[in-house]
Amino acid sequence: MNILITGGAGYIGSHTAAACAKSGWRPVVFDNLSTGHREAVAFGPFIEGDLADRDLIARALREHSIDAVMHFAATSLVGESMAAPGPYFRNNVANLMNLIDAMRECGTGTIVFSSSCAIYGTPERMPITESTPQAPLSPYGESKRMAERMLHWHGLASGLAWCSLRYFNASGASLDGGLGERHEPETHLIPRAMQAALGRLPAKVDLFGTDYDTPDGTALRDYIHVDDLAAAHLAALRYLKAGRESDAFNLGAGAGYSVREVIETIERISGRTVPVRECPRRAGDAAVLIADASKAAAAFGWKPRYSTLECIVETAWRWHSEQPVGPGEPRQ
Ligand SMILES: NC(=O)c1ccc[n+]([C@@H]2O[C@H](COP(=O)([O-])OP(=O)(O)OC[C@H]3O[C@@H](n4cnc5c(N)ncnc54)[C@H](O)[C@@H]3O)[C@@H](O)[C@H]2O)c1
Repeated sequence: MNILITGGAGYIGSHTAAACAKSGWRPVVFDNLSTGHREAVAFGPFIEGDLADRDLIARALREHSIDAVMHFAATSLVGESMAAPGPYFRNNVANLMNLIDAMRECGTGTIVFSSSCAIYGTPERMPITESTPQAPLSPYGESKRMAERMLHWHGLASGLAWCSLRYFNASGASLDGGLGERHEPETHLIPRAMQAALGRLPAKVDLFGTDYDTPDGTALRDYIHVDDLAAAHLAALRYLKAGRESDAFNLGAGAGYSVREVIETIERISGRTVPVRECPRRAGDAAVLIADASKAAAAFGWKPRYSTLECIVETAWRWHSEQPVGPGEPRQ
């Protein structure tokens, strides 16, 4: 199959492009490099373009005889979306309309979409299932919910086959060490803590909230290895191509690790100290977010294979510690 991977120069999209190529599919990356990296596109053709350009999307679909789309491209910083919602709705909702229109025009009827646990907000009952009420707390989360609803209605109207995959905390790096997580700015705990341990952050890592009702007072999150997410995309696409029902699925490991556990594990595996600054809780942060991913297991046989905290930290550390030192950064 020829797969158009929007956002394939980014973190999760590049790992999924690698997994597609490994399974004999041809990944065609469509990315504007706004947060992605050219060197992460290494598994098939690259189209540098923006999803605002509907004609370019249609041309890509036709010229590469695309059988299905995996749609990762989005703007994804929760805090930034609170301050400036407009670009979030434009990129994550309006540009999805362009993509769906172009797909309809070209007869491409299958899409796997990157959704997020941010659509649930801060539910009280754990674990979170797909029927947990949705109450996003940010324009980012709201944009993902709107995108899901658009897929739903297009599915009913025109038979678009879709899977929406609601990731919890994507983390880790490829097992072969070739790909990893690089966001600028980086807001995720594991890469930030590693950059701090390597002396590549100007400040300490902020630890938000030490008085939650959790075993060590810090927040618990469900970390899912990026290669497990990549495998889920392939499984979800096979599920749709087998004519199964369009639907939304949680993707998490079903285990909660606290911020302190994550930092301790990084210190143990790296042999370095992670400089930490304890801060008050951040508005909108839940104490605990843990997925029930049994629906994906039942529907398309997906089970995480690499999502122990050890494997996540080991693969991420190998990748981060091998990144070249940038100009002006301290040499290790
Ligand atoms: N990283 C996580 O923990 C996480 C959790 C839940 C959901 N998600 C979702 O997964 C997807 C991928 O996340 P990521 O961490 O790999 O992000 P990323 O920023 O690394 O990748 C996104 C890619 O999309 C590209 N892009 C953005 N807007 C575009 C546009 N208009 N046209 C073309 N390309 C565009 C960027 O250049 C980038 O390469 C996103 O939709 C994100 O919201 C991520």
